[in-house]
Amino acid sequence: MWIGIMKDMKAQLSKTTLTLHWLVGVTVILLLIVGFYMDAAKARELYPIHKSIGMLVLVLAVVRILWRIRQGWPQPLTDNLLQIGLARIAHWILITVTIIMPVSGMVMSAMGGHGLILFGWELVAANPDPNNLEKVIAVDKGLAKLAKSVHESCAYIAALIVTIHILASLYHHLLKKDGTLERMLGKKVE
Ligand code: HEM
Ligand code: HEM
Repeated sequence: MWIGIMKDMKAQLSKTTLTLHWLVGVTVILLLIVGFYMDAAKARELYPIHKSIGMLVLVLAVVRILWRIRQGWPQPLTDNLLQIGLARIAHWILITVTIIMPVSGMVMSAMGGHGLILFGWELVAANPDPNNLEKVIAVDKGLAKLAKSVHESCAYIAALIVTIHILASLYHHLLKKDGTLERMLGKKVE
């Protein structure tokens, strides 16, 4: 039982890998959808929940990266070197996205003067405009703008790579029938 939690095997991935993959994966997809929606619809009421859940992703992403450093990437179930290489590049981009998105979001909010509030708990205080308490004054306008453009452009890259990643796992499951998706769903393969 302990090995099932602590060690990735070629035939079966650990419960830790499965839990972190699906927890981070599903949350990132939801945050991308909520992010694009709140931007398009100017839905300001969604900002606090988007930010708080995004900051939790950062914690999970750091744990996941430490876990990957310890375990290495899961051993591929295919011998095709091109597919192995492309999957490796996609996994690197995806795991990097899980750090860049929360960090750029946090820098944008904190430097924009909005502060950082995690589910009601103030981590960084806002910087209200003394002449109009409804508004805030940027702490560092340049940095806030840079972080905003990183957050936006990285969101488009993330959406593209996540889509390719999902299509690739469907290709493995439906056409190659090689157990790649089933292994990530917790099944023992081979
Ligand atoms: C419905 C959505 C998703 C499906 C069906 C899916 C499926 C898979 C599968 C089958 C693998 C195993 C690949 C292998 O054995 O080489 C995998 C690995 C991976 N996926 Fe996803 N994935 C999804 C969403 C995501 C998202 C949103 C992210 C990004 C945050 C992500 C990041 C990764 C990474 C980094 C790996 C490498 C192994 C690991 O670190 O866990 N996945 N995914
Ligand atoms: C994995 C984590 C995250 C993902 C996937 C994500 C995704 C997104 C997306 C897709 C957008 C819309 C981009 C656009 O087209 O303008 C967005 C906007 C935004 N995000 Fe995030 N986000 C994450 C984390 C965070 C965090 C941690 C914060 C702040 C603490 C944050 C703050 C914001 C803000 C303030 C906006 C609106 C920007 C504007 O006014 O245009 N995000 N996010």
